[in-house]
Amino acid sequence: MFKSSTEAVPDQVKDVPRHVAVIMDGNGRWAKQRFMPRIFGHKRGVDALRETIKACDALGVEFLTVFAFSSENWRRPPDEVTFLMGLFIKVLGSEIERMHANQIRLRIVGNRSRFTPDLLALIEAAEASTAGNTGLTLSVAVDYGGRWDVIQATQAMLADHPDLAQSFDEADLAPYLAMSYAPEPDLFIRTGGEQRISNFLLWQLAYTELYFTDLLWPDFGRPALEAAIDWYAGRERRFGRISEQVKPAS
Ligand code: IPE
Ligand code: IPE
Ligand code: MG
Repeated sequence: MFKSSTEAVPDQVKDVPRHVAVIMDGNGRWAKQRFMPRIFGHKRGVDALRETIKACDALGVEFLTVFAFSSENWRRPPDEVTFLMGLFIKVLGSEIERMHANQIRLRIVGNRSRFTPDLLALIEAAEASTAGNTGLTLSVAVDYGGRWDVIQATQAMLADHPDLAQSFDEADLAPYLAMSYAPEPDLFIRTGGEQRISNFLLWQLAYTELYFTDLLWPDFGRPALEAAIDWYAGRERRFGRISEQVKPAS
């Protein structure tokens, strides 16, 4: 179990974030600027993700979590939803060798109940086969919503411990959250210019540094990641304390 930022002050704050969480936004606009269909932007988005994974690995990030499809994205036109589900299936199949070669551990987080059986089977196989890898942990949030996560965790906790219905605390709930295997994100990045969370990791972002860039996701890559990490290194993370406590006079 990792320390919670609200239960205890995290010990070591380093210049390189241990966990980076990204809302990969702007694919549709990127394509539109080029008079191309939106799906072209999603395809190029996969290339940007590949480059970002490589850069995170090279820079020493241990956990990378990316938002690929929100619980609200089902509201999109059916053609786009179908394309995106097909793209996940294709990418899961084609990237697995590369993940092994780079020792990447893959996790898919979200509500799996609406996935097709073939997508579900691929996810389970990919997770199982990369579970022993020792490098970067890549979590892809698909049909994920922060509110869904808190509710599913509460339900799962109560199913295991009906006695907690009377009263429970953060430490009781935390192991049931979808990302309990990872520390809380240190750095959050959203591309595409919007400054909102869009129901991503609501619980886990409690003390995360939030970085927004106007770059559209297909244009993101190592230089943009380095810029975000440089910005992160300049933050003073106080976790509720005052500056003098964070940097005691020497
Ligand atoms: C993010 O890009 C990808 C997904 C949500 C699947 P968008 O598709 O939201 O692109 P914009 O925001 O419309 O440009
Ligand atoms: C957030 O982007 C979800 C993903 C990137 C997967 P959206 O494009 O769906 O967010 P809103 O609708 O603009 O808030
Ligand atoms: Mg968008």
